[in-house]
Amino acid sequence: MSQQPQVYVIHENAEWFPPFAAAFAAQGVPAQEWLLTDGSIDLSAEPPQGVFWSRLSASAHTRDHADSKEYGRAVLRWLESWGRTVVNGSEVLELEVSKVAQHAALRAAGVDVPATAAVFGRGDLKTRARSFSAPFISKHNQGGKGLGVRRWDSHDDFDAWVDGPDFEPSPDGITLLQEYLWTREPFVTRAEYVDGELVYAVRVDTSAGSFELCPAEACAVDGEDGTPAPPLFQLREEITPEHPLVAQHRAFLKAAGIRIAGIEFAETYDGRLVTYDINTNTNYNPDVEAIAPHSGPGRIASLLGSLLTQHQPVPA
Ligand SMILES: Nc1ncnc2c1ncn2[C@@H]1O[C@H](COP(=O)(O)OP(=O)(O)O)[C@@H](O)[C@H]1O
Ligand SMILES: [Mg+2]
Repeated sequence: MSQQPQVYVIHENAEWFPPFAAAFAAQGVPAQEWLLTDGSIDLSAEPPQGVFWSRLSASAHTRDHADSKEYGRAVLRWLESWGRTVVNGSEVLELEVSKVAQHAALRAAGVDVPATAAVFGRGDLKTRARSFSAPFISKHNQGGKGLGVRRWDSHDDFDAWVDGPDFEPSPDGITLLQEYLWTREPFVTRAEYVDGELVYAVRVDTSAGSFELCPAEACAVDGEDGTPAPPLFQLREEITPEHPLVAQHRAFLKAAGIRIAGIEFAETYDGRLVTYDINTNTNYNPDVEAIAPHSGPGRIASLLGSLLTQHQPVPA
């Protein structure tokens, strides 16, 4: 690796990188990717000089990179032991890959969270599900992109799934059962934060009933008559930094040491604002970026650029 101090972006999915590469280039921040799908480190040697940003993802296993989580645990501990500046470091990786950890940290920070049970293995699933009235949700503890999220309208259907061949365990064996959040309108909101501050909030249309959200790409599918579908992702300008939930999220991010995240919440018909998902390797929707007053990748490039300026190489 080069001797010149720079920003190292630790990740396992090169496809997500171009918007960030463009933002670094536009601001003249030297940055390079550290693709954590293989490689090696010398544990007795000093890491390269620079600032490190982890973009490791809970959905790495869906790209055949299940071990990147473990590689990340190793690399981030090593970097931190040398006192390197790591944005979204080892503690944040633990939150990224566990919705149990997210729920615990959100609840402890006083944020409203969905009633949730964590089931270890398959044995307790059917019994535990009886403590939720239908409809309820099952999802993977280690999730992402909505994979593994299912709605159940009957306990019998759920039981049959658990006992049948289609049951799909979370990569870590922990299945969550969760109260179904009835939203007042068919959308959820994803609030994007960089350096603990709100960048913007995005309204995500859920009327099609799909749980698979992919802000990185244009997911909109045109209607059968060729008319363009309404955009799935829209800027929600009424969610401002003054919004009470934003203040709660900021306190949570600070307590959890998370500098960059997209936080998802639902507004229920009975007036609750329920936060249910933390994405610490957030991707930004291009249509929203095109009209938003601030850019997610732009804010990240300036945060990492200023951390790099502050970075003084520690004498060996
Ligand atoms: N408890 C719930 N009630 C209703 N809908 C939910 C619930 N949990 C998740 N969803 C829907 O499924 C989507 C994906 O779930 P989420 O927990 O964000 O998992 P992932 O980490 O895979 O994105 C959410 O954005 C939301 O639309
Ligand atoms: Mg989500």
